Amino acid sequence: MTVDIKNKRDLKYKEALKTKIEKLKRKRNAVIIVHNYQRDEIQEIADISGDSLALSQAAVRTDADVIVFCGVQFMAESASILNPDKKVLLPVLEAGCPLADMITPEKLRAKKREHPGAAVVCYVNSSAEVKAESDIACTSSNAVSIVKSLEEKDVIFVPDKNLGRYVQSQAPEKNIILWEGFCPTHIRVQEEDIIKAKGLHENAEVIAHPECNPEVLALSDHICSTGGMFTYVKESRSKEFIIATESGMLYKLQKENPDKKFYLPTPHLVCANMKLITLGWVAHGLEKMVYEIKVSDDIRDKAKKALDKMLAITGEKKGAAIAGY
Ligand code: 13P
Repeated sequence: MTVDIKNKRDLKYKEALKTKIEKLKRKRNAVIIVHNYQRDEIQEIADISGDSLALSQAAVRTDADVIVFCGVQFMAESASILNPDKKVLLPVLEAGCPLADMITPEKLRAKKREHPGAAVVCYVNSSAEVKAESDIACTSSNAVSIVKSLEEKDVIFVPDKNLGRYVQSQAPEKNIILWEGFCPTHIRVQEEDIIKAKGLHENAEVIAHPECNPEVLALSDHICSTGGMFTYVKESRSKEFIIATESGMLYKLQKENPDKKFYLPTPHLVCANMKLITLGWVAHGLEKMVYEIKVSDDIRDKAKKALDKMLAITGEKKGAAIAGY
């Protein structure tokens, strides 16, 4: 079979799946919420797409009966914690987050015993059980303001050490106690990759996610969440950008800024978990109403407090980082 025939067949297959998803969505009164790292085909069917904060806010606002969460486990779990009366579906149950798995509630309890007066801030990339052990949650877009808002000087920040270090650099008045966790995708970008990319694209600005290594952040012109990248690119006069985060970001950056150019510093910026979700699995999830993400009541109540506190501090930034289709 020639490549052309195969491409045409794939395209037809994808269009058929999109039609099926659209029908099922109406039947179930469902909303499709999509993280910026998802495959292009999934971003194409999004009702709402954005960064972790925007998606948590969207999950609170929706009046749909069913939320199909195209992201990873902790994201669907947060949506379920915030919406106990709605059905939250994760199309592929195995779509986990290795960073979230780098901490357990038992280990966090031991750390709390070592630092009895410290506040605990958990990055949303953590399990419901870890959130339940934390005073407040944060995302990459509000981590600095959340930490600054706390009365305590000592703050246990879990589980991402790079984000924690970045927060420390922006909040020198705090004493951040770091956790040894990291995102296996973001740490793949090395200092040399940025230097090489800058050499190839001299006029490009470097935008990095705070989960990148400190050496990469030091070479960046701007550090922000995935949602923050859209605002920055739109407002920048530059025409070229080196994007140090997961490859899925390029889809919407290019779509919203057709006159600008985007480069990845390394082709290895791919999160295998995010890419597990495909149109076929979304259709399957809506058809069979699987896989429902639920959190037990006792854990949910405690974890919800940490998320609610974060949302109360962050407030409703109207339209921020949310792209409705
Ligand atoms: P954002 O909140 O910036 O979208 O980051 C999510 C994430 O999981 C990064 O690895």
